[in-house]
Amino acid sequence: MSDATITVLPGDGVGPEVTAQALQVLHAVEELYGHTFTVHQGLVGLAAIAAEGVAISETTFETCAHSDAILFGAIGSLPAGKNHSGGPRPEQALFRLRKEFGFFANLRPVRPVESRYDASPLKPEYLKGTDLIFVRELSAGLYYGHLESVPGKPSEIRRTGDEAEAIDTLLYTSHEIERVVRTAFEIAADRGGKLTSVDKANVLSSSVLWREVVARVARDYPTVTYEHMLVDACAMGLIRNPADFDVIVTENLFGDILTDEASMLTGSIGMLPSASLGQRRTESGSFGLYEPIHGSAPDIAGQDSANPIGAVLSAALLLRHSLGLHREASAVEKAVEDVIHQGYRTVDLHEGGCTVIGTQEMGQRIRDTLMQP
Ligand code: NAD
Ligand code: IPM
Ligand code: MN
Repeated sequence: MSDATITVLPGDGVGPEVTAQALQVLHAVEELYGHTFTVHQGLVGLAAIAAEGVAISETTFETCAHSDAILFGAIGSLPAGKNHSGGPRPEQALFRLRKEFGFFANLRPVRPVESRYDASPLKPEYLKGTDLIFVRELSAGLYYGHLESVPGKPSEIRRTGDEAEAIDTLLYTSHEIERVVRTAFEIAADRGGKLTSVDKANVLSSSVLWREVVARVARDYPTVTYEHMLVDACAMGLIRNPADFDVIVTENLFGDILTDEASMLTGSIGMLPSASLGQRRTESGSFGLYEPIHGSAPDIAGQDSANPIGAVLSAALLLRHSLGLHREASAVEKAVEDVIHQGYRTVDLHEGGCTVIGTQEMGQRIRDTLMQP
């Protein structure tokens, strides 16, 4: 039996709709397995700016700091034209949580449901055997640039007359590379698999350093086969031969882009969960932030049509990584697979003769399946 404290930050757009389903699944796990989860809620993003004047308040941040895990929905953006004004920006909530809690490793598993490969626009024969996991570096790189820069600050464009210039810096220290690469090797060793390190070493100095660190760390993991791959070739390979990949480690921006691409192997960006982890431990695992990889999806918000599976699978990762509840995590993942297998889909997945259901019904069906004896 586990006693844990979870802070839920639903955020904007479809964030509250999908986190509501993930939270209900966590409550079902509590009931089914006799755990007690104390849940706090807080505002982030546009919702927090509107109510509290900042993207994340000190109170909300402190509530997160005193939790075992954070379940995050999504944040939106300021309307175009309003994001250069110097005021608070929704993304600051994410950057602050990631940076101050030291979440340097962002795990993004991609596992299409085998019996239902037709949920994806790719031909089923391309997907056979696909089961991969990205380890995206999350707290450095182009998102943070020089150490003195404030992540999430208004963009800096220097203008002189009709001319203008803007600069972003891709900076990595060997320490920042090593810790995330080590995490990836650990995962690859556990899976008995191989590691692909993705970079742009034919152009970028930070990638040349990245390769050097990977080669050094690899000596500590003799059972893991590893390879280097250029990011453009990886983008192509993910569609041509997704089953060739196992664990992929890469820098922040490459990981952001490649995982949105890879989400389509499962059929939708709404399917992919993530876990952001660092050094801090909880009683039974790692302190972490869990969120679907998608954003606030303003085009479909409020319609009960968002796919809640990425959020529900994020709750499963929370159970596994922060609370050490492995059996419960696998049961949630199995319930999701079963509901997809039974032929239920939200509208974002290729319909293929299946029954299209809404966000709430999908959540309810996952809970019902989980609770079935
Ligand atoms: P998005 O992920 O919100 O949406 C991209 C497309 O995918 C849209 O067509 C959307 O309807 C669809 N989609 C996304 N989630 C879905 C779901 N659960 N079910 C079904 N369809 C889904 O990306 P975007 O449109 O580029 O960005 C919208 C906002 O979200 C921006 O403000 C962006 O900054 C923000 N964003 C936030 C996060 C985060 O909070 N971690 C992540 C990505 C984007
Ligand atoms: C993600 C998002 C964020 C990122 C945005 C909202 C800053 O796209 O979590 O994948 O780029 O990291
Ligand atoms: Mn992204």
